Amino acid sequence: MTPMPATAAVRVRRAELSDLDDLVALEESTFATDRLSRAQYRRHLDSESAQVLVASANHRRFLGTAVVFFRKGTQVARLYSIATHAAARGKGVGSALLAAAEDTARRRRCRVLRLEVRTDNTDAIRLYQRLGYVCIGRYDRYYGDGADAWRYEKTLD
Ligand SMILES: CC(C)(COP(=O)(O)OP(=O)(O)OC[C@H]1O[C@@H](n2cnc3c(N)ncnc32)[C@H](O)[C@@H]1OP(=O)(O)O)[C@@H](O)C(=O)NCCC(=O)NCCS
Repeated sequence: MTPMPATAAVRVRRAELSDLDDLVALEESTFATDRLSRAQYRRHLDSESAQVLVASANHRRFLGTAVVFFRKGTQVARLYSIATHAAARGKGVGSALLAAAEDTARRRRCRVLRLEVRTDNTDAIRLYQRLGYVCIGRYDRYYGDGADAWRYEKTLD
């Protein structure tokens, strides 16, 4: 990918079927374990209990994604995944995706957005803390490869 100008305005939209190849490619290049498969993404695109978001800017139509899960009977939404293409990081894509995930949760009448993050994922932790997430717990061996997780949450206004 060619470098993205620092001034590009990031837009976030709902993912479509035509995004499947990009979603799977980003998942594979970003995460070594606990990946969403193509079939899982396919199901989430059509599901009431999930929202898959895609970030774009100018003519770059796929820069990153966030996946939010909802469950009946709870006002707690879950940010299952967030990822920006390596070449587009540090330019506000992750912040825009997280803000859009929060908007999505608010629209679904959720009061809290919750997430887990590897305890050594300093980039993601900085993003969450900057956007007002607070740490509410630690989970040993949470991930498929045995890594521990912090759980963070934010109360949505
Ligand atoms: C975590 C992750 C999603 C952040 O995405 P990102 O697009 O780089 O996020 P942002 O650009 O919004 O923020 C990152 C930094 O860029 C800075 N930034 C934000 N907007 C900016 C802009 N317009 N211009 C320049 N820098 C900007 C932010 O201040 C931030 O700096 P900080 O971390 O020192 O606070 C990304 O690093 C990633 O995909 N990591 C791999 C996947 C992952 O670990 N996901 C989380 C676990 S599921």
